[in-house]
Amino acid sequence: MTTRCTIIQIYLIQSNFNVCACSLLQVLECYIISVDFFLLPLLSAVWIMLPAYLPNPVAALFGGGTPIDLGRNFSDGKRVFGDGKTFRGLCMGILAGIGIGIVQIWITGTYGLEYLPRHTYLSIMLLAIGALLGDLCKSFFKRRFGKERGTKWPVADQYDLVAGALVLLLVVDPSWLFANMTLSAFILILILTPVLHRTVNIIGYYMGVKEVPW
Ligand code: CTP
Ligand code: MG
Repeated sequence: MTTRCTIIQIYLIQSNFNVCACSLLQVLECYIISVDFFLLPLLSAVWIMLPAYLPNPVAALFGGGTPIDLGRNFSDGKRVFGDGKTFRGLCMGILAGIGIGIVQIWITGTYGLEYLPRHTYLSIMLLAIGALLGDLCKSFFKRRFGKERGTKWPVADQYDLVAGALVLLLVVDPSWLFANMTLSAFILILILTPVLHRTVNIIGYYMGVKEVPW
């Protein structure tokens, strides 16, 4: 009787252990899947795009003064870019994007961080310049469609910087783009950008830096 009891106890302990080991493996698997398919691509997406994300809020913070179109009109009688695109905003924004890029290059150089994309001086310049060129391009077409400065233009207002930055990279340094941009990082950039754009603009609006919260 006692032997039978011990065998049953051992069996129960063993099956409990199996269940525990199984759920532990499942948790580990979930963790690895979420790190591989979500966290790392998310981190990579933000890391790639930081030099392109920073120029817009910095332009809003420090912009003003002489407009890039010098107040001139296009052939349709409307402003070329409008008063929202200034030399100061453009220069400060690009400098900020390059600045954060240099910090990123220093961080990956100093701490290794093999899992993050490696920026180069060229990639950070292209991302920062491309982001504000995309913004400028969008304002050009916004004026052509008769939309006043600061009015909402959904999709274009959010993706102008992504389009500008990635197109410039694609044209000037495609090998860097294809070596560092994965499909999942690209999809996350498309999801993340409008969320970040809206959040930063709402903050800018309440800080009194932006006239509208979009
Ligand atoms: N800004 C700037 N120079 C730039 C880009 C932006 O000075 N090259 C500043 C302007 O003060 C601008 C603010 O940042 O008003 C917010 O930028 P954005 O929303 O892109 O400009 P809007 O005023 O909305 O103009 P638009 O309708 O042309 O987008
Ligand atoms: Mg705007």
